[in-house]
Amino acid sequence: MARKIAVASQKGGVGKTTTAVNLSASLAVAEKNTLLVDLDPQACASVALDFNQDLLYRGVYEIFMRNFPASGSIHETEIPNLYVIPNNIWSNNAEDEIMRTSLNRTMLARSVEELDDDYEYIIMDSPPSMGHLMVSALVAADSVLIPVQAEFYSYHAFDQFIRLVKTVRLSVNPDLEIEGFLLTMYDERTKLAHEVESDLRRRFGRLVFKTVIPRSVALAEAPASGKPAITFDGRSAGAQAYMRLAGEIVRRRRSRVKSRV
Ligand SMILES: Nc1ncnc2c1ncn2[C@@H]1O[C@H](COP(=O)(O)OP(=O)(O)OP(=O)(O)O)[C@@H](O)[C@H]1O
Ligand SMILES: [Mg+2]
Repeated sequence: MARKIAVASQKGGVGKTTTAVNLSASLAVAEKNTLLVDLDPQACASVALDFNQDLLYRGVYEIFMRNFPASGSIHETEIPNLYVIPNNIWSNNAEDEIMRTSLNRTMLARSVEELDDDYEYIIMDSPPSMGHLMVSALVAADSVLIPVQAEFYSYHAFDQFIRLVKTVRLSVNPDLEIEGFLLTMYDERTKLAHEVESDLRRRFGRLVFKTVIPRSVALAEAPASGKPAITFDGRSAGAQAYMRLAGEIVRRRRSRVKSRV
């Protein structure tokens, strides 16, 4: 059975896409069959793996419209064990159409469930708003991974997001767990980064990943080459950090620790 992880936060620019792409690639390199689903119409995860949204006729759009089985939207990548359902919701019309036809927020969950036996991990990148697409990801997921930028940190935004997780639990997905809080863009030279880290660890304890993602030029530059950091510059601190994160997630799964807030 696949472990389905939604990478989500309503805050923009905190490293969701960077995490979804590089975690997926790291799991694949660790020989875990992995599927990345790009739910963000900005399509940054698709572009980071060299998929051009304009040329795609099989992607997330078809999943929501149920044009054919979910397996029809899956594309291979140049990394063995890494597959992707790219985002091809390229116009506002297409997004409106999805909202209208799939008011039922379990559409994605049902499609993804068909793929359960084919992958060990299904990672979903979601857009920075608490709209239909993000909620669909939370409904489809076993757990949610929440990136927290080590430079800005708002309790208010956090509480709002955790309330959403709890609402999804109460309504459609009672088993939704917290995969973990992940510190991103960490610059250990700054006092602020240390403050954010100790605050987060005090508040959420073992729900915060031991692995911290540093600010890394390779992570910022890799998307333009259409490659994840592990193949763009495998020795970079950023690529290595995401490999450690993948290891932490695999070990946690083996020990079957259930995590909730
Ligand atoms: N650890 C890092 N080191 C350096 N740059 C990073 C790092 N993580 C992310 N970035 C850069 O920061 C920007 C925002 O990251 P990213 O796109 O992953 O965030 P996001 O949460 O997905 O944004 P959005 O909310 O718009 O979807 C990007 O330009 C990305 O390349
Ligand atoms: Mg993003």
